[in-house]
Amino acid sequence: MADWGPMAGIVKNTLALLRAPGNAVAFTVRSRVRWSRGKAELQNESKERLFDHLPTPRWAEAGADEQRMCADYGLEALRARSTCLVYAENLALLQAMERVCSGLELPVGSDGALRAADVGCGVFQYATALQRFLARGGMGAPRRAILRGIEIDGHGVYRDGHSRADYARAHAALAGDDVHFQVGDFAALPIPEQDVITMWFPFVERYALLQWGLPLSLFDPTRLVERAVATVRPGGLLFVANQTEREAETTKAMLRSLPAEHVRTVSIATDLVPYADKTAGRIASVWRRC
Ligand SMILES: C[S@@+](CC[C@H](N)C(=O)[O-])C[C@H]1O[C@@H](n2cnc3c(N)ncnc32)[C@H](O)[C@@H]1O
Repeated sequence: MADWGPMAGIVKNTLALLRAPGNAVAFTVRSRVRWSRGKAELQNESKERLFDHLPTPRWAEAGADEQRMCADYGLEALRARSTCLVYAENLALLQAMERVCSGLELPVGSDGALRAADVGCGVFQYATALQRFLARGGMGAPRRAILRGIEIDGHGVYRDGHSRADYARAHAALAGDDVHFQVGDFAALPIPEQDVITMWFPFVERYALLQWGLPLSLFDPTRLVERAVATVRPGGLLFVANQTEREAETTKAMLRSLPAEHVRTVSIATDLVPYADKTAGRIASVWRRC
């Protein structure tokens, strides 16, 4: 039988390329307009059916994991003001961080606080989980964790008229006073040295960037990764999560020539979210800045 695999890839990429001019115009317009409808209200849903997507024998175990994470990381406020999907994505992020940081001490500054930036945070729906893990996770005593999410495409508008930045600010506010959100190009923003940089699913393939709606001119993963490494202080940590092994290999190849030592790579596949099958290839790695 003919192998249509490579051909399908070419067709997929060509179709994505057709989106490039439209993406460029739309991104320019929304970045200039900088639309905001003001403070966004986060929706809440009952968490009773949080794990309905799981087979019955998994319910008790998943429920126990949820209760443990809620108590250990102080997720009560998030639990009371989130949709099931947002809450589940926060749990999945905590599970991923626990796997990749097992036995690791998180770096702090001379004042005992940990300063972190999340590059390309999107709508920052996981702000609570990420800040809580940085504050309470890993080895060593709990610490103050100050987190800023940075997103280049903050002005896309949702159906209710609120922008991505409106919602990202709401997620940051729910996470607490130590969490901030900023619209900007991470590669160009003046950012002080950080103890930790996280990158959850950065675009390392053109196709994904175009599907997301960004212009091709913003596709420069090497520049972004170089900037991430340059922003982490020596001894600090860089976390990268990728969707597939191929993306993880591309990321690894970029990092190999930079002053960063590979600490660990783990699978972060999870069944805590309803789209578990789509997470099967997810991989996270952690690097220490030399
Ligand atoms: C695949 S999305 C991941 C979003 C989020 N981290 C998550 O896991 O839900 C990648 C994000 O990176 C953002 N991005 C791409 N280039 C960027 C840059 N130079 N500076 C800041 N954000 C960037 C994109 O706009 C997009 O929101």
